[in-house]
Amino acid sequence: MKSLLIISATGRSGNTTVTCLLARHLLCACRCRVLVLDLADPPRCAHVLAGYRPHAIASGIQVLAPKDSGRCALGGCVHVLNADAVAALVSRDDPDRTRYYANLRHLLLVAARWFDVCLIDAPALPDLRAVCAEALVDTALSPVAVSSGCVSCASEVINGRYGIRNVRARLNPALRFTGILPVVATPAAMGEAWMKVMETTLREWLIADAASPRGYVWLPHLAFVRRPGSFVPGKSERAPRDAKVHEDLPENLRAQAACLAVLTQQLEAIGDNTAPALRHVQVCDA
Ligand SMILES: Nc1ncnc2c1ncn2[C@@H]1O[C@H](COP(=O)(O)OP(=O)(O)O)[C@@H](O)[C@H]1O
Ligand SMILES: [Mg+2]
Repeated sequence: MKSLLIISATGRSGNTTVTCLLARHLLCACRCRVLVLDLADPPRCAHVLAGYRPHAIASGIQVLAPKDSGRCALGGCVHVLNADAVAALVSRDDPDRTRYYANLRHLLLVAARWFDVCLIDAPALPDLRAVCAEALVDTALSPVAVSSGCVSCASEVINGRYGIRNVRARLNPALRFTGILPVVATPAAMGEAWMKVMETTLREWLIADAASPRGYVWLPHLAFVRRPGSFVPGKSERAPRDAKVHEDLPENLRAQAACLAVLTQQLEAIGDNTAPALRHVQVCDA
């Protein structure tokens, strides 16, 4: 199982949106068995993805195994597991999150039997739950909302106390960094100077895409993201005829498709071995 952490240094960066779009893409385009592990507070992935399948929202580690594993193996699936439904991840008597780390490690190891990919939507740094996930995953991706705080937010994720570099040096030497993903959450953001600032200051961390006119991957503003039920596979991403105002521009839908395709390629490029941090799992109370 490949594991991808979607991480950021502030809320409303687009973490949940990117997690859910990628989960849907991995199911629809690649027929992957996807576990979405929602560590965020409050968890929102299940709500955003609601409508997938009745059993898509798991309520504990014992229901991790897809009930319909035969069909799942052939056609892929998306399961959402909220951390607050897993008793081993909600202990209050764990200020340093040492138990949380051990139990999350155990959970990922168990999940690797049934899923091809695990996407983790984490709380914003410096939350230690996000750091535990950083210490365990194969790779991390950081959506950054194109806005005035974008550069400091991105540099916190890369160079901050609990950023990728420090975690790689101290906790997870094999941790990869897929890169910074600019997210245009408001239509106006595209035309703003921040896009240019981001492009120049963070160039080396943007995810290269030779096929894109910009040369890197970005998530455009998408009106359908805000419509209930729009993340259900098979549903058209086109707005209803009577709501033309919500219709997404074809170039934005193309940029979105390119973004998800490149992220998928990056995931595919990761070796299929269990993440080094998950080997030699020892005692834990999960
Ligand atoms: N590409 C996008 N197009 C339109 N709206 C977006 C886009 N990305 C994020 N949003 C909106 O921005 C808000 C914050 O996004 P969200 O994914 O919930 O951020 P986070 O999980 O980091 O807090 C949400 O209301 C979401 O619908
Ligand atoms: Mg969120």
